[in-house]
Amino acid sequence: MHFFLKMDYKFLCPSAFFCIICFFSAINGRPDYIYYPSRPADNGMLSYSFYDNSCPNLNMIVRWGFWAAYINDTRIAASLLRLHFHDCFVNGCDASILLDDTKDFKGEKNALPNRNSVRGFEVIESIKANVEKACPSIVSCADILVLVAREAVVTSGGPNWPIPLGRRDGITASEAAANQLPSPFEPLENITAKFVSKGLDINDMVVLSGGHTIGFAQCSTFKRRLFDYKGTDLIICITRASSTIRAFLSLIKL
Ligand code: HEM
Repeated sequence: MHFFLKMDYKFLCPSAFFCIICFFSAINGRPDYIYYPSRPADNGMLSYSFYDNSCPNLNMIVRWGFWAAYINDTRIAASLLRLHFHDCFVNGCDASILLDDTKDFKGEKNALPNRNSVRGFEVIESIKANVEKACPSIVSCADILVLVAREAVVTSGGPNWPIPLGRRDGITASEAAANQLPSPFEPLENITAKFVSKGLDINDMVVLSGGHTIGFAQCSTFKRRLFDYKGTDLIICITRASSTIRAFLSLIKL
């Protein structure tokens, strides 16, 4: 991942975007066998026509809701994509990331990778409210998260892809599991192993990192990788960096 400075947050580097679909096609294509109280999926399998009769305007409602947020905050596209990733990577795409703490479990919102970092909950809530008005007790939040992530990718110039639907919402969440999300401070082997444990491979991991084509990161998440190259206290690639970049790096080193 490469990051560039912008205020306190940093704009993430340009790179291939299209391969994000590999991951989401892989994960989204799997049926989630999680209890959704109002409407069981057909034999637990996802389907491209799942809401065709029960909520025909779903895509339009999601699109409108996404655009209403995007118009005021273009970064929300990145945040919603990441929200989807952080949901799916922790016990599947079950919208468990949306659950607050209860007396029975500590939710995922306050796990280290998510706290003061994941964004977009209010967008999902607003879309869910509109979906409920149109089709009460039909559409899972898990499906809304998936659909809105696609809107975010398409709007940001990425590809479109077909999404099978019919996920059920989880009724529990796990802070401990969310703490296992890939961290920018762990070695490549660990991150790769985490992807492998989800049935993905190193190629998936590399191309999915193209998700960082858009969005922001806090300086603390990558600053230390810009300096002290092999213990030399040099800025990485300083010899090749332009004077502007060198000036910028010196600035954030302070
Ligand atoms: C490979 C392991 C990954 C690591 C270690 C990682 C790490 C990070 C970190 C540290 C940030 C900055 C968070 C902050 O400063 O608050 C970030 C942002 C982001 N990540 Fe990842 N990430 C990974 C994989 C992914 C994947 C697979 C996607 C989606 C395909 C993704 C999408 C994003 C997006 C869009 C942002 C910007 C969010 C925003 O601006 O609100 N990341 N990631």
